[in-house]
Amino acid sequence: MEIPLVDLKTQYEELREEVMAAFDEALTGMHLALGPNVEAFESEWAEFCQARHAIGVGNGTEALHLLLRAHGIGPGDEVITVSFTFIATIEAILQAGATPVLVDIDPETMCIDPAQVARRITPNTRAIIAVHLYGHPADMDGLREVIGERDILLLEDAAQAHGAEYRGRRTGSLGNGAAFSFYLSKNLAAYGEAGAITCDDDELDARVRALRVHGSEERYVHRYIGYNSRLDELQAAVLRIKLRRLDEWNDARRRAAQRYNAGLADLDLTLPVEKDWARHVYHVYTIRTRRRDELAEALAEAGIGHAIHYRIPCHRQQALSGLGYDDLDLPETERAADEVLSLPMYPELRDEQIDYVCEVVRDTLG
Ligand SMILES: Cc1ncc(COP(=O)(O)O)c(C=O)c1O
Repeated sequence: MEIPLVDLKTQYEELREEVMAAFDEALTGMHLALGPNVEAFESEWAEFCQARHAIGVGNGTEALHLLLRAHGIGPGDEVITVSFTFIATIEAILQAGATPVLVDIDPETMCIDPAQVARRITPNTRAIIAVHLYGHPADMDGLREVIGERDILLLEDAAQAHGAEYRGRRTGSLGNGAAFSFYLSKNLAAYGEAGAITCDDDELDARVRALRVHGSEERYVHRYIGYNSRLDELQAAVLRIKLRRLDEWNDARRRAAQRYNAGLADLDLTLPVEKDWARHVYHVYTIRTRRRDELAEALAEAGIGHAIHYRIPCHRQQALSGLGYDDLDLPETERAADEVLSLPMYPELRDEQIDYVCEVVRDTLG
């Protein structure tokens, strides 16, 4: 049985007619730059995230970058985040001209460890970016406690956590602004590049809106040096169609995760954790085992898609050499990079497919 890591084709079959009709309507109207779909999606996404504002931008990396820029973060500022993330989190900090300070993760949630953040705060720390990795929210109260009375922003990289909850509140509403990616494989995904920022702050909203269109609030009047980072109207039309199904799809991911958990129980591996204060949305279903590479080989032989998120932590990437990370001691990050393995996860995953994956994992590790 061939099982892909992510199956976008099955989902498209269900959506095809609606997507084609929406494309036709948008193209017939020909209002394609920040048009009615972008506007509608922004208010629908803000509502979904329990935030006051949502601003559509070109992709998730731009969302992070514009969020930092809109907060005035730049040269001389330090931004604390994790090394165990997709490199875009760190690229955005560097693009803003700030200095990324990388700390270790909590081995249970795989997200930023507040205790490690406490050790790296300096007078130059302007922000912390909490990456809600794999679909599980970071410990926001823990971070807030560490920040205390200091003037430090708490930002969210929610690219992997659409609809995840922290103590009953949705990601995107948990700090001083959040960045989302709607890349192809995300829980809510465009059919191309797309991203968004959410926030509650009216002034921040206005600044991001200007920055995404060349720093202008009025046509051909430029208040800031900005960027070209509009959310595409056709992608917004797709996102609106899919957003209506996102809760249902996240529930399906959670059911799939439960079936995996039952099927893989009592093996010598670590299953994903959902803290009692969290609602995990399983962007990926990632297990940990010291026999990771052997298991990856067995899955490949059995026709089962899998991935390693992430084999090389950011502080070990060649792209970031020269930033003084050589001596960084991040033992939990290094351990995770050696052990993690993501199994197939998507809302349409069928029970018999999950059972087959579990069988292959049991045969290999059992
Ligand atoms: C944690 C994280 N941050 C940022 C991004 C960047 O998003 P994009 O690919 O839309 O630029 C991604 C996804 O690709 C991601 O997983």
